[in-house]
Amino acid sequence: MNRNMTFQLAESGTTSKSELYDQLAAQLSSLLAGERDLIANAANFSALIFHSLPDLNWAGFYFATDGELVLGPFQGQPACVRIRIGQGVCGTAAAKCATTIVPNVHEFPGHITCDSASYSEIVVPLIKNDEFIGVLDLDSPLLARFDEADAEGLQRLAAILIATIT
Ligand code: SME
Repeated sequence: MNRNMTFQLAESGTTSKSELYDQLAAQLSSLLAGERDLIANAANFSALIFHSLPDLNWAGFYFATDGELVLGPFQGQPACVRIRIGQGVCGTAAAKCATTIVPNVHEFPGHITCDSASYSEIVVPLIKNDEFIGVLDLDSPLLARFDEADAEGLQRLAAILIATIT
């Protein structure tokens, strides 16, 4: 990306998933370079992946605030604002501090529906200096949209974001 904010989004149609995440990692590093504001960087992160990864209907963040998760920057339909730790897919991933892939959200006990179009979901915890600070959450209208390659790729992208604020 150059500094006048015109840049090419990754072409997802002809590249493998790992190549797509390689491209996204390079674009994200460039996009966030020199900026340390978490909200600004999380907003640009959401926009980049929402418009680059295929088959998403929601992509964004919940941040840990006063012992619960509070909605942060995102792309997609309006979403629930507060999620208790241990509640829903996000709260479960937060409680376990583990990346959580749900192939069919309708089979996940306690799933919180923000967009009825969602069928699968992945949640990646954000850890800064050994402290849990929130989650990255992606929803898809496809069943089983997310796999281990997505988990690895998104963890890599999350690390780029976290590095900007440490
Ligand atoms: N489905 C999530 C809630 C957040 S939305 O998907 C944006 C959950 O069960 O935690």
